[in-house]
Amino acid sequence: MVNYKEIGLVNTREMFAKAIKGGYAIPAFNFNNMEQLQAIIKASAETKSPVILQVSKGARSYANQTLLRYMAEGAVAYAKELGWEHPQIVLHLDHGDSFELCKSCVDTGFSSVMIDGSSLPYDENVALTRQVVEYAHKYDVTVEGELGVLAGVEDEVSSEESHYTKPEEVIDFTTKTGVDSLAISIGTSHGAYKFKPEQCTRDPKTGRLVPPPLAFDVLDAIMVKLPGFPIVLHGSSSVPQEYVDMINQYGGKMPDAVGIPEEQLRQASKSAVCKINIDSDSRLAFTAAVRKVFAEKPAEFDPRKYCGPARDLMVELYKHKIINVLGSDGKAL
Ligand code: G3H
Ligand code: 13P
Ligand code: ZN
Repeated sequence: MVNYKEIGLVNTREMFAKAIKGGYAIPAFNFNNMEQLQAIIKASAETKSPVILQVSKGARSYANQTLLRYMAEGAVAYAKELGWEHPQIVLHLDHGDSFELCKSCVDTGFSSVMIDGSSLPYDENVALTRQVVEYAHKYDVTVEGELGVLAGVEDEVSSEESHYTKPEEVIDFTTKTGVDSLAISIGTSHGAYKFKPEQCTRDPKTGRLVPPPLAFDVLDAIMVKLPGFPIVLHGSSSVPQEYVDMINQYGGKMPDAVGIPEEQLRQASKSAVCKINIDSDSRLAFTAAVRKVFAEKPAEFDPRKYCGPARDLMVELYKHKIINVLGSDGKAL
């Protein structure tokens, strides 16, 4: 049993309470490798932003669960070395799909877990989420549940269309399960193709897709039912067009990739939305930088020469999100 407190991590409880009060959101950045982790910690330390290091089931098996525990401990030490006196870092399981996986994460140093029962019938989602909460809370590990289904692929949970969260279910769900935060569906989705061209309009000047707005009315109705309760938004990458352009320019092929406009995420951050999940934007930055080096220096074969620029671009991306979108800078001094 590895207790997350012994390795210097924190859970989400206090962080979320402060974020709701302060009108900002905590970034939850997914990572799979050392360069992403370095970039997340560097950006968070330089901006003094609380941060959630997010690991999916796939990322956990990619990185190795034993190594991950030491990477998290190393992340705290690295943050301090960078001059961040009191780092507030959460290690969170993203889209846990079983009690066993969540338990294993609690037992190996995670300070927060998500149990995603959103594709199950309501009563089964409640029962599974309750079971995870009962176990996790024994170790003061916080739990995120989900109601409503996002379009696209949620790890191995897939759905064809988006089903918004039903505001009339949220009180019953949070009361019965005891979750610490609730992921909701209001029109975001995972990946770099969040909307089909037929769901969007096109900007006549640039030819780029303009996505439909998020369902802020659903968010408002949920906040009325659950005043002050921490809300989570998945699928919140903006798919920066500069990275898509770089990828396409240097041999990639990502036509019509489109994300959530930053202005809408800024608006959400000021509400009870206190955790915003971003994975695809980091993948895009990494890929764009690597493709550029490969295209411009085809003889290069030292991974540091292409992973280094990728890391630099991700630091820039994370700092931009923290400062200009979520507003979490300076909140963990
Ligand atoms: O929501 C899904 C995350 O972007 C993680 O994706 O399962 O490919 O690691 P992954
Ligand atoms: P994006 O694919 O929009 O980055 O969403 C990531 C996410 O929700 C991880 O759980
Ligand atoms: Zn997600």
